[in-house]
Amino acid sequence: MDLFEYQARDLFEAHNVPVLPAQIARTADEAQKAAEAIIGSSGGKVVVKAQVKVGGRGKAGGVKLADSAVDARAKADAILGMDIKGHRVGIVMIAAAAPIVEEYYLAILLDRSNRTFLVMASVAGGMDIEEVARTSPEKLAKVPVSATVGIDFAAAKKIITSAAFPKDIEDQVADVLVKLWQVFQSEDATLVEVNPLVKTSDGKIIALDGKVTLDENADFRHPDHEALVDHAAANALEAAAKEKGLNYVKLDGQVGIIGNGAGLVMSTLDVVAYAGEKYRGMKPANFLDIGGGASAEVMANGLAIILGDKDVKSVFVNVFGGITSCDAVANGIVQALAILGDKASKPIVVRLDGNNVSEGRRILKEANHPLIEQLDTMDGAADRAAELAAK
Ligand SMILES: Nc1ncnc2c1ncn2[C@@H]1O[C@H](COP(=O)(O)OP(=O)(O)OP(=O)(O)O)[C@@H](O)[C@H]1O
Ligand SMILES: [Mg+2]
Repeated sequence: MDLFEYQARDLFEAHNVPVLPAQIARTADEAQKAAEAIIGSSGGKVVVKAQVKVGGRGKAGGVKLADSAVDARAKADAILGMDIKGHRVGIVMIAAAAPIVEEYYLAILLDRSNRTFLVMASVAGGMDIEEVARTSPEKLAKVPVSATVGIDFAAAKKIITSAAFPKDIEDQVADVLVKLWQVFQSEDATLVEVNPLVKTSDGKIIALDGKVTLDENADFRHPDHEALVDHAAANALEAAAKEKGLNYVKLDGQVGIIGNGAGLVMSTLDVVAYAGEKYRGMKPANFLDIGGGASAEVMANGLAIILGDKDVKSVFVNVFGGITSCDAVANGIVQALAILGDKASKPIVVRLDGNNVSEGRRILKEANHPLIEQLDTMDGAADRAAELAAK
């Protein structure tokens, strides 16, 4: 789960990473009040920053300096509702403006290909770090970190020295890196990035922008992370699927897909996309893996989600019976349609194979449901589902 900048800032603050005073606002009114509070306590100017989970906000006009609370109100008014790379701005963060002297880059991330954690540090911060990595790779230090050893002050100091940070701030930056490691480890993050980390005119080091990705697999250790979920943005269908414990991802096609096992569902998407080329480019509408035990209830939940998708024109149920045999799946489909009643209204193409397939096919045939069509092969069924979607 990616966090908003203000949520990252709050996590940083909780772990004593130096940040600036800030508040969020959802209206111009709130923005003005927030700016008054911040200017009242720290003086000077404020910045108004769009809170969207996408990079390059500054360049898109989503980060603006304001020299008074009234000005902050006007800037917030302009930024709220703005579209930044397809993300609508619903929240702005009002932060104290820092007198910046230099901008650096600091990040800790999970390096999957090398099976380790990695620190990236650079004195060329503030800009696009991919650009720095490409044009002047010598300015970006990359240092692997062992999960069992972590980063203490001595290790942090070594990393910061190797990245050629100015001598007078080495200790401060190393201290920030140790605290960022504590954020990374104790919150179960896969990314903690600060760009820019700045030096101010009075020689202080401050994290001015934060990007944090939390590992959802570790949610059970962090009941407090639930509060960080952006429920408004989660697709309504995906949210409903998650509530039912289904592994569902919305895609932009017209053929609803249900399968068992992630591998089978992935290849079903490919086969349907390929078959759909013949039928005005019909494509899969979703990924949905109902897993091992395809019970009637799970099948009904899955079908309900897919039939609730207004983009779906036909459904392809592709199940390979293993531990759960085909007769159980067939009964599941029949019972699911009984549960759904009138809510089921789109053609459903079923392909069963594997354990006890003949009994499964017999059950479906006997049920003689007007929406169900059975085909023996995956390619044949994909073709028929795409054809029905295009009708
Ligand atoms: N509190 C602040 N005080 C002064 N200047 C700031 C402040 N926040 C941001 N800036 C300036 O604006 C620039 C862009 O800000 P920031 O890094 O937060 O957004 P961004 O990099 O455009 O967005 P993203 O990180 O999502 O790509 C910073 O490099 C910095 O120069
Ligand atoms: Mg940034």
